[in-house]
Amino acid sequence: MKFYVRTYGCQMNVADSNEMSRHLKAEGLVETQDPDEASVMLVNTCTVRQHAEDRAFSEIGRLKRWKAKRAGRKVVVTGCAAERTKEYLEDRFPFVDLVVGAKSIEDFAQVAHRLLDRRETDEELDYAIPAVDDKVAAFVTIMRGCNYSCTYCIVPYVRGREIYHSVEQILGEVRDRVREGAREITLLGQTVNSYRHGQHRFADLLERVSAVDGVDRVRFISPHPYYMTDRVIETMAAVPQVCESLHLPVQSGSNTMLKAMARNYTREQYVAQIEKMRRAMPGMTLSTDIIVGFPGETEEDFDQTLSLIEELQFDWGFIFKYSTREGTPAAKLDSFPQELIEERHQRCLELVDRIALEKRSKLVGTLQDVLVEENNFGRTRTNYKVHVNGDGAPGQEVRVSIANAHRATLEAAL
Ligand code: 5AD
Ligand code: SF4
Repeated sequence: MKFYVRTYGCQMNVADSNEMSRHLKAEGLVETQDPDEASVMLVNTCTVRQHAEDRAFSEIGRLKRWKAKRAGRKVVVTGCAAERTKEYLEDRFPFVDLVVGAKSIEDFAQVAHRLLDRRETDEELDYAIPAVDDKVAAFVTIMRGCNYSCTYCIVPYVRGREIYHSVEQILGEVRDRVREGAREITLLGQTVNSYRHGQHRFADLLERVSAVDGVDRVRFISPHPYYMTDRVIETMAAVPQVCESLHLPVQSGSNTMLKAMARNYTREQYVAQIEKMRRAMPGMTLSTDIIVGFPGETEEDFDQTLSLIEELQFDWGFIFKYSTREGTPAAKLDSFPQELIEERHQRCLELVDRIALEKRSKLVGTLQDVLVEENNFGRTRTNYKVHVNGDGAPGQEVRVSIANAHRATLEAAL
């Protein structure tokens, strides 16, 4: 019996999908890339912005026909939107067999077992294969949930309070992934650097994971500026496996907005941290998330965001249009007309893209060490994606010269 997984949302969700796939494989199912072949369809949803949720819901709507095409097919809806709208989902899409919210991902093993116990499909199990995830760059979830309460954000409601995996569990998962072929490990959590377990803090984990045999590269997402302590910065600089690249969401360049968002740092503190990091790791890349059009954002506030982008010269960034999430504190504030949000989004995107292109252009002609992942793609330690023209097998690190940087994916010279 085969299953197909469709994932919306963040890397956390991708990691959850991988985890759920491992459980389904442990039950003897086989993953397919073709929905027509599948008997179980798993849709892992996101609710961070309305747009993400809408996309997942229209996909679920289309699955009614998919399900009717073959007897015994099952539709499973999981993740953040499932957590937020469980009853609504069950009412609107009565053909869905099972809804599993983001808070229940850790119980998915039992859920999978129950789902398949009640199996009435037209197929026998193909064959049992071990749960294998043969990715060169693997994710390992170290914590779930979020104790922050950024006023725009739905995540704490759908994922709950922070829980941390033990160091032993994390190292065990890292070793499993390495055995399956991983060379690069990305540690994952909503505020990944707030990790604590017993005496262990995030910096300890970076050291321990880097020391696992076979781990060549270590990354992490998404850190919160508040927990970017000197010790974390020093550890990043000192441990060779930790890559020189950081995604540190800033959200806004205006102190008024940062306060209204309850981000717990000022623009000046963020800038000082980046300066410290760049001194410790020259050549590191820096990327960020920005929200435009948060309620009350004046033209001056918005200009502050643009000036921060100019000042810090982010290597790339993700710019989000503010989206009202029901139940969050910001949902009570008056939001802007969509046209204004669109216009600011456009201006912000143009600036970020211009700087990103300038940065990439400087890489042309340089030599870069690329860890090959699959399909001729790999990444530099600084996290640029590179098309490598068949140099090197997955899992190998190759040194290539960069020929072209017009698009986000760099091209290696032939
Ligand atoms: N509207 C727009 N963007 C949001 N993000 C989180 N919540 C919202 C929202 N309500 C963005 C933040 C976060 C990223 C994952 O999504 O920038 O860092
Ligand atoms: Fe990830 Fe947040 Fe979307 Fe959930 S709601 S999938 S945590 S981005």
